[in-house]
Amino acid sequence: MSKERIDKIISSQGKYSRKDVKTLVSQKRIMLNGEIIKDSGIKADAKNDRITINGEALFVRKNIYLMLNKPKGVVSATDDRTQKTVIDLVPDEFKRKGLFPAGRLDKDTTGFVLITDDGDFAHKILSPKNHIEKKYMATLDIPITEDMKRGFNAGIQLKGEKKCMPANLEIIDTNTALVTIHEGMYHQIKRMFGCYGAKTVGLHRISMGNLCLDKSLKEGECREITTEELQKITE
Ligand code: URA
Repeated sequence: MSKERIDKIISSQGKYSRKDVKTLVSQKRIMLNGEIIKDSGIKADAKNDRITINGEALFVRKNIYLMLNKPKGVVSATDDRTQKTVIDLVPDEFKRKGLFPAGRLDKDTTGFVLITDDGDFAHKILSPKNHIEKKYMATLDIPITEDMKRGFNAGIQLKGEKKCMPANLEIIDTNTALVTIHEGMYHQIKRMFGCYGAKTVGLHRISMGNLCLDKSLKEGECREITTEELQKITE
């Protein structure tokens, strides 16, 4: 049984700071196993003890996994002095220490960004060795050709880089294609199309592994990923 300070346990879940916990304790609003606590430094076992705040049980999660529908103009970074980041879009109820985007989308790319505080999981889904596929809807300034399709399937050689892994390109309409890649090189899709003299004018990530971006999420919105959904990314 490992015990930690109750203010540390509560603040690790993001909603309340340690200072908030002190205030809640002074207002007699926190209970530990049915007893009102008088000291925010009291130790508790996050797994086995029952902590309630304002009568509501605290459900302690080790890590958090969020699905964000990233809008244009937001950077995939944890903090930036001048620009809005994907972490700025996380609502307070999900905010906690150590959140970061697992993989980057360009500033002008929209769609599925996974935000977590679980470094091991992020490593697992980002490592090209694990072949987790990412699907994007890409819109070009010129018509998509069968030649592009063949080149993507064979693996594009980007200048000064190792050859890309084979990718899939499904033509949706004249200028739009569904592209599936298994790695995340810098500006990868834009550069792959660039080899054919094409400019990517729209790029939207729709899935990671077998998990699709929830269509009910408006741009800038985010929600928690369920345990079952999380498994879909790596299955
Ligand atoms: N490929 C790109 O070129 N940009 C992205 O944001 C993602 C994949």
